[in-house]
Amino acid sequence: MNNLKEAEVKNKRVLVRCDFNVPIEEGKVVDDYRITQAMPTIRDLVKREAKVILVGHLGRPDKQKSFKKEGSYASLKEVVKKEEREDSLKPVYNELEKYFDNISFVNDCIGKRASRKVGNMEPGDVVLLENLRYYEDEQKCGDEFSRGLAELADIYVNNAFSASHRDHASISELPKHLPAFPGYLFERETRILSKIKDKSEKPMVVIIGGAKIKSKAKAIKYFMKEADYLLVGGKVANSILAIKGLAQNNLLPSKEVIDELEGINLTSQKLHLPVDVVASSDHENYFRHTPPGKVREEEEILDIGPETVELYGDIIREAKTIVWAGPLGWFENEKFQDGTKLVAQRIIENENSLKVIGGGDTGAALGEFGLRKYIDHASLGGGAMLRFLSEKNMPGLEALK
Ligand code: 3PG
Repeated sequence: MNNLKEAEVKNKRVLVRCDFNVPIEEGKVVDDYRITQAMPTIRDLVKREAKVILVGHLGRPDKQKSFKKEGSYASLKEVVKKEEREDSLKPVYNELEKYFDNISFVNDCIGKRASRKVGNMEPGDVVLLENLRYYEDEQKCGDEFSRGLAELADIYVNNAFSASHRDHASISELPKHLPAFPGYLFERETRILSKIKDKSEKPMVVIIGGAKIKSKAKAIKYFMKEADYLLVGGKVANSILAIKGLAQNNLLPSKEVIDELEGINLTSQKLHLPVDVVASSDHENYFRHTPPGKVREEEEILDIGPETVELYGDIIREAKTIVWAGPLGWFENEKFQDGTKLVAQRIIENENSLKVIGGGDTGAALGEFGLRKYIDHASLGGGAMLRFLSEKNMPGLEALK
């Protein structure tokens, strides 16, 4: 891979793909970890007098239409009204403004508005472009979209390791059009995670939770073989329980995921699923502890239960390597955060283990509990970290080679 430190960037337009997919509440960033971690690369480019163009995605906005109008893109404001943009990157811009005086925001990421702004940049300036995912061609790797983005820059930098398991235009297409470099955050993630992959001490305990089962299904299968214990929580656990007929059918994931996971051996001594859960019908006042098979139709599973915490805690106590991606319940609501919090505490109590966590939500949860500082490596990637540890290749990495 190319080395950004050696690149001639002075006066060049450098487009940096960042992962600014951060939690936002009432228009404010509530966990800025992904932003602070991106900073060394951005600051270095500013210092070296590059014209720094930041791009990223936020959430999964509905309005992912193809905006092609007679071979070119209509401006975003013609299609998604400003006031309707729920997943705007503007709150991220408000954070970035704290670090740079010479920064501006463009209400679009492609087309005339973006080119005009970039055309007027001076060396050392920074611009942040609007959410790439307002354009469906970002996720579909649209050729015209990729070329349009590439035309804005002379050099491409991928500083979004945590989004590099996605085969999207800004991750896998741009390196085909521009000289491409990994950012410092990307390099750090691959360096540390490679060491963990190649030299992890046993017993290795892998904990997988969160909501995005599709991007974790392959990793679950891999760790069933490679890890000594696989502890599962969150919606990922609910989906597996449903596939195995041990929880409600309405928790079943997509057919693709079912096909991937059907072969999992539930009787394997390595695999541990929740034996009790916190179920609630109103997300508020009424909740109870129950085995997953006894959850009522009107209830939703919102956390793992206390017995599961104890079982998982006993396994974690013996571990030499612990890898964790995805919260075990709805940690944002304090009524349903015990599972995630208590498991985090059990991990930290095991002083003889190497502790690695991954993903925006897991990082945000540990940040909220004040525990992130006790972790050896907090990867910014959840799905990306698991994919790297299990397969070691991913679209963003291949594209940079
Ligand atoms: C993440 O938060 O894991 C990355 O930013 C990727 O986001 P995505 O799952 O929406 O592609």
